[in-house]
Parts: sequence; C-alpha cells; structure tokens
Amino acid sequence: MLLGGNETTRKIDSFAINELKIPSIVLMENAAISFVKHIDENENNFLIICGKGNNGGDGYAIARQLFSKNKNVKIFCISNENMSHDCFVNYEICKNMGIEIFYKIEELDKLLLECDVVIEGIFGTGLNSEIKGEYCEIIEKINFLNKNKITYSIDIPSGINGDTGEIMGISVKADITISFVTYKKGFLKSDIKNYLGKVVIENIGLNENKISHIVNDYYLTPEMIKKFYIERNDNSHKGDFGKVLIFAGSSGFYGAGNIVAKSCVRSGAGLTTVITDKNNFSLNVFVPEAMSFPVNFENIEENFEKLENEILNSDVIAIGPGIGKSYKALKIFEKLISFEKNYKGNNIKLVLDADALNLLSENRELFDKIKNRSVLTPHLVEFSRLTGVSPEEINKNKFEIAKEFSQRYGITLLLKGKNTIITNGEKIFVNSTGNSHMANGGMGDCLTGIICSLVGQKYNLLESAVIGAYLHGKIADELLKKQYVINASHIIENISKYILKIFL
Ligand code: ACO
Repeated sequence: MLLGGNETTRKIDSFAINELKIPSIVLMENAAISFVKHIDENENNFLIICGKGNNGGDGYAIARQLFSKNKNVKIFCISNENMSHDCFVNYEICKNMGIEIFYKIEELDKLLLECDVVIEGIFGTGLNSEIKGEYCEIIEKINFLNKNKITYSIDIPSGINGDTGEIMGISVKADITISFVTYKKGFLKSDIKNYLGKVVIENIGLNENKISHIVNDYYLTPEMIKKFYIERNDNSHKGDFGKVLIFAGSSGFYGAGNIVAKSCVRSGAGLTTVITDKNNFSLNVFVPEAMSFPVNFENIEENFEKLENEILNSDVIAIGPGIGKSYKALKIFEKLISFEKNYKGNNIKLVLDADALNLLSENRELFDKIKNRSVLTPHLVEFSRLTGVSPEEINKNKFEIAKEFSQRYGITLLLKGKNTIITNGEKIFVNSTGNSHMANGGMGDCLTGIICSLVGQKYNLLESAVIGAYLHGKIADELLKKQYVINASHIIENISKYILKIFL
C-alpha cells in the first residue's frame, strides 16, 4: 500500500480535485462510504465528534451515511464557525436531515456515556500545533469515558502528527483507525500502537497507479508480496535457480558462513558454494547440501586461479558476514568483485553485508565495481559508516538519505532496523514484518542467505531484498506467537514452509 505523510495527502487531494476534476465533496463522500463499510452491522448508537476542518467534514458525511442506514446517530459539533467549505456543506445537510447535533461541552459526558461507539474526526492531516484548551478537554473525555467502548478515528487519531507520529500534547486512543489512500509515515513510530489500534487503509475513489508520480513509497502488504512470485517451470534444473558463491565466515566465525549457506540452501538456490577456511569441517555437517571451496588464508593468492573459475561460474556472490576487515579479507573481496560478467555473459550480482560494508566504507574506490549489480544490507551504524552521516541525522531523514545514497552509487539498499527500508533510488518499500525478539547474532547472516538465494532464482535485486526482508520478519512474527526467543536457526527451519505461505 502507498505510504505518505501530510504533504503527500495534500498533493493527492489537490491532484484529484484540480487535475482529475473530482469535486472535493465527492472525495469526502467516497471517504465516508469507504469508512462506513468497516462499521459492525450490530453497532447502533453512534456519537460522531466533528472538528471544523475537512476531517470534521468526513465526520458529518459519515454521520449522514449511518443515519441513512437507520442507525441512532448523534453529533457533537466542536465549532460551527469558520468551518471548511465541505465541512459546512455536510454539517448543513446533517441539520436538514434532522440528525441531533450538540454543541456544549457540558453535554459531552452524557453523550459519551450513552453511546456505544464514538467516531472522531477532530483533526486529520491538518493538525499543525500542540493541542490545547477545549480540544484537550474533549480528547481527555473521549479517552476516559469511552475506555470500554469502541472508538474509531477518521484518517488519523486526533493528536498524532501524520508525518512524525509525534503526540501533539494529547491524542485520542483509537481502537480502529480508518485512514485514507496512504499508510501515514507517522504510523511507523512504534510507541503509538496503543493510539492507533487496528489500522485499515481505505480508498477515496482514486487509482493507485495514477498517483505514482506523487508518491512512490510503499508499506509492504501480503498482497504486494504475492505479486512478485515467479512460478517454477516443470522443465527446470538446478542451474536455473542460481549458482551462489558465498564468502562469509573466517577462523573463529565459521558460524556466520554456515548460517548464510544454510539459509541460502533452504530458500531454494540451485547450487551453493562457500569459500571457507580449509580447516572448517563444520560446514559439511551443518549444511551438507552446500559445497565448500577451501582456501588457505595464510596464503590466499595461491587460491586465486581456482577462485577465478568459481567466480566466473556464479550468478550471484554474497560477501561479508564474519569475514573481518583484515588485509586478506580485503584482497578476497576485491577479487570477488573484480569480474562484472560470468561465463554466460550475465552480470554477476552481489549481496554485500557486514564486514564487506565496512571494507567498502574504508575503500570507497570499490564502489565503482559494484554499481548496478548489488544489494547492500547495512544496519544503522554500518550505514552511518558508508554515508559519513551520524545515526541521529539518518534517523531524522531516513527516507531521503537512503534514496539519495542508492541513486548516487547505483545500488539497491536494504537499511535494517524496525521498519526496514528497501530502495533502488526510485521506489521505497518499508517492511511491515519483524519484531524485537529476533534481535540477536546471526539474524543478519540469515537474511543475507535468503536474499542471495532469491537473486539466484531470478528475482531482481529490489524484489529479492523486499521479499527477503518480508519473509525473514514474517517467520519471526509467526514464531513469536509460540516462543520468546527467535534465533537464525529457528528462521532457517521455517523458511521453506513460509515461502509457500507468503507467495501462494
Ligand atoms: N488546535 C486547534 N486547531 C488546529 C490545530 C490545533 N492544534 N491544528 C490544526 N488546527 C486547525 C487548522 O487550523 C485547520 O483549521 P482552519 O482550516 O480553520 O485553519 C483545521 O484544524 C484542520 O484540521 P483537519 O481537518 O485535520 O485538516 P484538513 O481540513 O486539511 O483536512 C483531511 C484533512 C483532508 C480530511 C485529511 O485528513 C484527509 O485527507 N483525509 C482523508 C479523507 C479525505 O480526503 N477527505 C476529504 C477529501 S477532500 C478534501 O479534503 C480537500
């Protein structure tokens, strides 16, 4: 689904009204009709609380819709002065239809106690300052007196800033927020879950594809993931699903290489080969399906001729977890990225994580070699090293910095964290899965394995990163229903099952 802030909403409304020539009152009606679809048929006694802007206008239109379904509807009008045009039109119709409208704050307690459901349209994207005075009092009353009943918010719980998620002094605590056109960027803030309740995104009669010039950012949904699915051809063989070469894990860090390899194999890659220390015998035990390419790290150059053949045979190379930042690690890294095309004449794709990113940060001339063929998967601190921008600054302006970095270096970026961001410099996808119980060692290695495997199976770089992030988090979310700690091994055991579930 589309993802946007307050400005995006204004641009979309303005495009619909000025370019598509849809009268704003029609958009408001569409919003009201879409909203009412989510109201439980068994709910009968409604109190609609309306502000004076268009959010209030939506409220009056919703009141009319419910009234026409013979529901018991009362309206609390916060102010009938200086209403926006469409708000006034709908207010007048409500009056003419004979819907009871109340104005005095002294009446609000009784109204709240008598109703079963509150629908509030006090502020939407127009909220622009701290809430004070009577507005504050009204919101306090809603939260307190309607605590054990249902509260619906129109577009945004009144008090939440749609851009930042900040609580502007006070906010309605909704049970259900029915928002329009875009999932609001502010909703991504984790500590407002109790204010948003369940979030539903509805339409106001616009075609998503026709507004992509205004907004090209997306919040991942199961429906979006299903569309990426590439069905396997009955006549295919292992060579069709990617020859993946992995350089991960060094002495003392064998686990990293093993995890990448196992998650790559479990995600469906055709052939997986791991460049590993000649003394690492654990690989064969941990991932018998993977082949090992043993190297003598004491004298790496002696392996380069054979390695060259391995590189030219591969479709994708994953580099980074557990390789360290030593001179030897750098030399192998340089070698692995030195060929752009494989024997088949195809671009050799790269998935770079962990120490590969640290090596890149310290050897920036290497960026040229990875252009137009790489996914980089940094966490915030690694991204800070790559960009030279502090983590605090990145957090303030994540979307723009991520997009700009991706464009500048011609790479696909997956910036890990709560609500992982994936961008190719044009589109941004924000992941909707994952949880804090998966924050432990090896998790990133597991993600690298999934992504390189998907690249091998001919998903493009952006799709591979998007599907990988979604799948990884989705498995963790499902496991969290039954267990407290989620390790990479738990994810790996479930990859194959959940690939089917997310695609089909
Ligand atoms: N304290 C008191 N008043 C405040 C505060 C505050 N802290 N912050 C803002 N306000 C006032 C503003 O000054 C403004 O009043 P003004 O117009 O007299 O200046 C009013 O609150 C605006 O509040 P909103 O209703 O949130 O803003 P707006 O009128 O822009 O409507 C909208 C927002 C369009 C409804 C948005 O939430 C949305 O897009 N919803 C989706 C559904 C939809 O699109 N409906 C209408 C479609 S057509 C159209 O609106 C143009």
